[in-house]
Amino acid sequence: MVPRRSCDELDRMRIAGQIVARVLRGISEMVRPGLATRELDAAAEEIIRKAGGIPSFKGYHGYPASVCASVNDEIVHGIPGPRVLEDGDVVSIDVGAIWQGYHGDAAVTVPVGSVSEAVATLIRATEASLQAGIAAVREGARMGDVSHAIERVARDAGCEVVREYGGHGIGQAMHEPPSIRNWGPPGGGLRLREGMTFCLEPMLTLGGYSTKVLDDGWTVVTADGSVSAHFEHTVLVTENGAEILTLPPEDQVGEA
Ligand code: MF3
Ligand code: CO
Repeated sequence: MVPRRSCDELDRMRIAGQIVARVLRGISEMVRPGLATRELDAAAEEIIRKAGGIPSFKGYHGYPASVCASVNDEIVHGIPGPRVLEDGDVVSIDVGAIWQGYHGDAAVTVPVGSVSEAVATLIRATEASLQAGIAAVREGARMGDVSHAIERVARDAGCEVVREYGGHGIGQAMHEPPSIRNWGPPGGGLRLREGMTFCLEPMLTLGGYSTKVLDDGWTVVTADGSVSAHFEHTVLVTENGAEILTLPPEDQVGEA
């Protein structure tokens, strides 16, 4: 059963989403060659707590940090630490926050210094695939339409789509049903209803789609060592489309 949120729940999720958006904007701007990924984590935790939120990743099944920082061939769930970002790297930053019991979760991928043309294309395609998925969200649509829209943009750009990880429902827990593929045929799957909230998070690679988990038990990498990118938003299904709950304020147009 995928719940439909009440107005009160949505107000809380909007605030959680805004906290996440603010953190992502703030820490993306820190990214530069020479920065250790644990500095991103410390800054994120401070921003979340100052805003009155709780970092949802910290302690989640024992996860040790407030953000995930996944560099180059790391797809998702990279643990921030002493690793220093180098010119030409690419880092995915994933953040989650809880506000009065409700969750927001989003991620961006940021180039470090100047990256290769192929990596720049990968980053653009991953963000575009997320936007295409969001554009397919509306009351009455099928989740298969969303998955298919993501995959089509990825493939048109010549990128591969990670199969073993995907999006998820979100609300009072960070991970709720349904699980959402970033690939597959259109027309089938869950019928989207107004008030449903979920995270779309395409993960694309410049190589194959196979993954493995490192010995730390968390870091998911491409099996072939190819570079990967990841973008994520928390969205709400509305009558006319999607409301993006984790959109940064400066990207919001036409709303008070
Ligand atoms: N956005 C990530 C996901 O949905 C957040 C989980 S990171 C964890 O998988 F460390 F908290 F697990
Ligand atoms: Co997520």
